[in-house]
Amino acid sequence: MEYKIALLSGDGIGPEVAKQAVNVLESVGKAFGHTFTFEEGLVGAIAIDKTGNPLPDETIKICLRGDAVLFGAIGDPKYDTNPDAKVRPEQGLLKLRKSLGLYTNVRPVKAYPTLLDKSPLKRNRIEGADMLIYRELTGGIYFGEKHLSEDGKQASDLCSYSEEEISRIARMAFEAAKLRRKKVTLVDKANVLETSRLWRRVVTKIAKEEYPQIELDFLFVDNAAMQMILDPRQFDVILTENMFGDIISDEASVIGGSIGLLASASVGDEHGLFEPIHGSYPQAKGKNIANPIASILSAALLLDYLGLNEEGNAVREAVDIALANGVVTSDLDEHSTYGTKAVGDYISVLIQSAEELVVNLNH
Ligand code: IPM
Ligand code: MN
Repeated sequence: MEYKIALLSGDGIGPEVAKQAVNVLESVGKAFGHTFTFEEGLVGAIAIDKTGNPLPDETIKICLRGDAVLFGAIGDPKYDTNPDAKVRPEQGLLKLRKSLGLYTNVRPVKAYPTLLDKSPLKRNRIEGADMLIYRELTGGIYFGEKHLSEDGKQASDLCSYSEEEISRIARMAFEAAKLRRKKVTLVDKANVLETSRLWRRVVTKIAKEEYPQIELDFLFVDNAAMQMILDPRQFDVILTENMFGDIISDEASVIGGSIGLLASASVGDEHGLFEPIHGSYPQAKGKNIANPIASILSAALLLDYLGLNEEGNAVREAVDIALANGVVTSDLDEHSTYGTKAVGDYISVLIQSAEELVVNLNH
């Protein structure tokens, strides 16, 4: 089959890590007889530099006509340190999520058996941890009305959710839980926020009426943040609103040992976008030190989305082997001599030649 992928590399280390994901997809193509073609679009700070717009219309068109979007990273320190900037790279990503209707963001988090000692958390707490975070991605405080008073002394961001926005992602989370350990934890702040109480009502009703086999429990987000570190194994599928999901997923990345391992899928009814959860890490730009695995695992999620599960599994297996053999960047091993490209190449070669792989492992 032939697949058309929109490639939005973005800023900082985005292009370097996305390049490795592209190489991996090309290896998958060779090994499994598919063709992936890539059409590049501008997004983020680089798009602002070149066009004045963090998400040019042309980029949206490229995404709309692709079968899926592979996304690198966006962000630039020159905007982070300037609260008065009117145009920001992040607006590009947020508008893209909204334009493509990507309301569900899935972030898989697990403790890799071969990396248990890389996490600052104690091995015996994280061993076996394996969860999916379902983060709502196109609503809540990120997209509510914003206001800054004329004198600049008062500001507000509205957090708003509708029943429909909650129920559509809730069903996605319950469906995922069906195939796993059959538990959904709704993370909210229902002791304070009206939106959270709506989430509880809507999610409880769906659980009762449509998913009686799934255990549903609730945690306030402050407690959830603590539980994530104290006992991450208790989580199977976490369901939460936009901003809480943003925060707890960075926290959860500590379990795996590096944020450079965490991939994500952002999907809606018609489109899918796949990106690492890490940012543009500008300090590492061009140094060939960034971990490409989050981007490569995002490509694996992209393959799943296209219905190519065997191919997605082949990528995940190759990543597991790289990790087990210590073929990792310096975020996971300070003495490592492997750079971004070497790790990506290793994984690509593994995928292309499963037989050679066995030979390699025996030597
Ligand atoms: C993420 C990022 C984005 C977010 C930023 C870059 C807008 O932190 O994908 O987690 O907050 O959603
Ligand atoms: Mn984030």
